[in-house]
Amino acid sequence: APAAIVSPSLLASDFARMADEAKKVIDGGADWLHLDIMDGHFVPNLTFGAPVVKCLAKHTDAFLDCHLMVTNPGDYVEPLKDAGAHMFTFHIEVDEDAAVLCDRARAAGMKAGVALKPGTPAEAVHAICDAGKVDMVLVMTVEPGFGGQKFQPEMMPKVKALRERYPQIDIQVDGGLGPATIEAAATAGANVIVAGSSVFGSDDVPKAIAVLKDAVTA
Ligand code: DX5
Ligand code: ZN
Repeated sequence: APAAIVSPSLLASDFARMADEAKKVIDGGADWLHLDIMDGHFVPNLTFGAPVVKCLAKHTDAFLDCHLMVTNPGDYVEPLKDAGAHMFTFHIEVDEDAAVLCDRARAAGMKAGVALKPGTPAEAVHAICDAGKVDMVLVMTVEPGFGGQKFQPEMMPKVKALRERYPQIDIQVDGGLGPATIEAAATAGANVIVAGSSVFGSDDVPKAIAVLKDAVTA
């Protein structure tokens, strides 16, 4: 099975101190940094884009796991690659050709990920996954747009079905992950764990990360 990876979401961090916040979680044992790029259109919230990712990349060697909650991900491929991004995850719900986006992300030297909102069935990504174009599937366990929401356990059958069909692909879960919910996600077969509030809200960051990682490894 793919390796256990913990990817803390900087959405729950102090954006004005992003480099320090990134260092805190990487020093605390995190594997990746999850960067939530929101355009105020695909989701009702606005965060940051490639210019900020580029600034952050100057301060860390960590793997930059970019989650694009944007209507036009195609416009972000080259800017994010130039900024130093490593993973390009776009939403399958957008009105752009998913296979082309995956190919472009990979041609730019990034990994290609595809994300599913809670209402989108696993079947929506079967064609591009079957075609071998996807490195990671992100199963949203909350409605995208905001941190601190409640984990939706009813997404676990979707994770399980994708894990059974794709034993080698990374399966990421994002939204409401923490000590109380990690077991369900790990058991269903998720191996890449995003966590915002449970990591940055903890007074023991290394322990918060270890709890997530150990549950996946076990
Ligand atoms: C929500 C974002 C998540 C968010 C998760 O749209 O995609 O990455 O930061 O935050 P928590 O872990 O607090 O639910
Ligand atoms: Zn995210």
